[in-house]
Amino acid sequence: MKPGAYELKFKFSCLETLMRRVKYIMNLSKLIYVSTIADAFKLSDIESILRVAERVNRERSISGMLFFSHHYFIQYLEGDEEDINLIYSRIRKDCRHTEIATIAKSAITERLFEHWSMAYLPPNKTLDKLYDSFFLLNSLPRTI
Ligand SMILES: Cc1cc2nc3c(=O)[nH]c(=O)nc-3n(C[C@H](O)[C@H](O)[C@H](O)COP(=O)(O)O)c2cc1C
Repeated sequence: MKPGAYELKFKFSCLETLMRRVKYIMNLSKLIYVSTIADAFKLSDIESILRVAERVNRERSISGMLFFSHHYFIQYLEGDEEDINLIYSRIRKDCRHTEIATIAKSAITERLFEHWSMAYLPPNKTLDKLYDSFFLLNSLPRTI
């Protein structure tokens, strides 16, 4: 008996889910970068950045965290290596930030932010101290 169109569609969607699951756990990679806000950046941009990041990252099973403090971003991305490279190449072209420096890029065996397509940590005093020591330690330019 030939499978009907509905049956085929169901099998195809099961296969798709399975492929996504395999991709979710294989070739896992992490990337951390820091950047400085550009002149074009407005505080209200954070909301649109997160809206796009949450949608696109969910579609590609990318998870991670975005820190923002003073004039700086630190972003941690984890997911399939190819997807991370693609998203990072888009992020690098974004005119809302500049002086983008890759801090770490390597293979990982498990995710730290499995349930977050892009968690966001807004400015706070603890983070400010972390930024101070980070930028001091790495002798990165400070504009504040
Ligand atoms: C600091 C910062 C972090 C960003 N993080 C992400 C992200 O995690 N995922 C994402 O898809 N876009 C992110 N974006 C937005 C991208 O740069 C870009 O605008 C978006 O992917 C749409 O790309 P497109 O205009 O080439 O379609 C981020 C932008 C900035 C400035």
